Amino acid sequence: MIILGIETSCDETAAAVLKQDKDSRVTILSNVVASSAALQAKYGGIIPEQAAREQIKSIIPVIKECLQLADCSWQNLDAIAVTYGPGLIGSLLVGTETAKVLSKIWNKPLLPVNHLLGHFYANWIENPTPPVFPCIGLLVSGGHTDLVLFTNHNKYKYLGGTRDDAAGESFDKCARLLGLSYPGGPEISKLASQGDSLRFKLPRPMINSKDFDFSFSGLKTAVANIVNSGQGTGYSKANLAAGIEAAIVEVLVEKTIRAAKKYNVEQIMIAGGVASNQKLTSDLKLKIENLKLKIKVAVPPPSLCTDNGAMIAACAFFTKPVNPPAGGPLNIEADPNLSLDTRS
Ligand code: KG4
Ligand code: ZN
Repeated sequence: MIILGIETSCDETAAAVLKQDKDSRVTILSNVVASSAALQAKYGGIIPEQAAREQIKSIIPVIKECLQLADCSWQNLDAIAVTYGPGLIGSLLVGTETAKVLSKIWNKPLLPVNHLLGHFYANWIENPTPPVFPCIGLLVSGGHTDLVLFTNHNKYKYLGGTRDDAAGESFDKCARLLGLSYPGGPEISKLASQGDSLRFKLPRPMINSKDFDFSFSGLKTAVANIVNSGQGTGYSKANLAAGIEAAIVEVLVEKTIRAAKKYNVEQIMIAGGVASNQKLTSDLKLKIENLKLKIKVAVPPPSLCTDNGAMIAACAFFTKPVNPPAGGPLNIEADPNLSLDTRS
């Protein structure tokens, strides 16, 4: 089974060809990502219209290169999987409309994938020990912070999520306040490695709340107050970066482990851009060890944490999304507000 995965929800134009063997193992034949992040960096963040324009320029070359690198002609594809939400509507439309046309002219099934679910499936790619169910999933990306209990493929319960800024968004906004470039997560992390996290006492919002929700906007305000206050040039950026990283990571670790204990699971998987944060993974594992818990942690390699087409194809293999019942693939519509929240 060979699937072409297409992902265009934000500022990455991505496509990948993946193969699933009879034993369910998934391998990457090619994985191409064209990012307009460097362009966004100039403006300190994403301008949706500009991101969509970049998507239009890149989508066909990326898909072409991806098939070439996989040494796979379109005839060999069994299906096309595409992100249909959530994300920026202009960016999403480039992927969904392209995928619809290809599905029609190549006569291949079109499988619509929820981007958020897709992130989790990066953990099943070329992983000799993929996650086992039941499992707590923590999605930490630029737009989302979600805790989910998975009991099987297609069977999950939404436990909670951010009430305001997402973890990645918080990294990005704090980085901007420190004058660092976009995306801010890796920049803060780099600087933090030279700093002392104990020099700044930053808030850990909702760390003790009994639910599984998060709130990160207070952190950004606290950082803005430090930057704008009399401490001015006197503060060490490295110490503040370390304080920011420690505050975000501590809340994520605390709530994820609490969820794992509550639902008695022996597996945690993390996913999304912030999952490539080294401190998050090492602190999570350290806390599990200190508490003498028997919980395994799955984390995708950094290249599969940020947006890519491979995770979309992998998600399609395991969750087998179907074409919309009426009208076929042309009826798939981009949904910028799609979520994992089954509470609403
Ligand atoms: O999953 P992703 O590529 O895009 C979304 O779907 O949102 O995540 C991008 C986010 C950005 O906010 C970026 O700052 C953050 O992931 N990020 C990190 C690291 N690498 C990327 N945050 C913290 N530490 C990192 N090493
Ligand atoms: Zn993403």
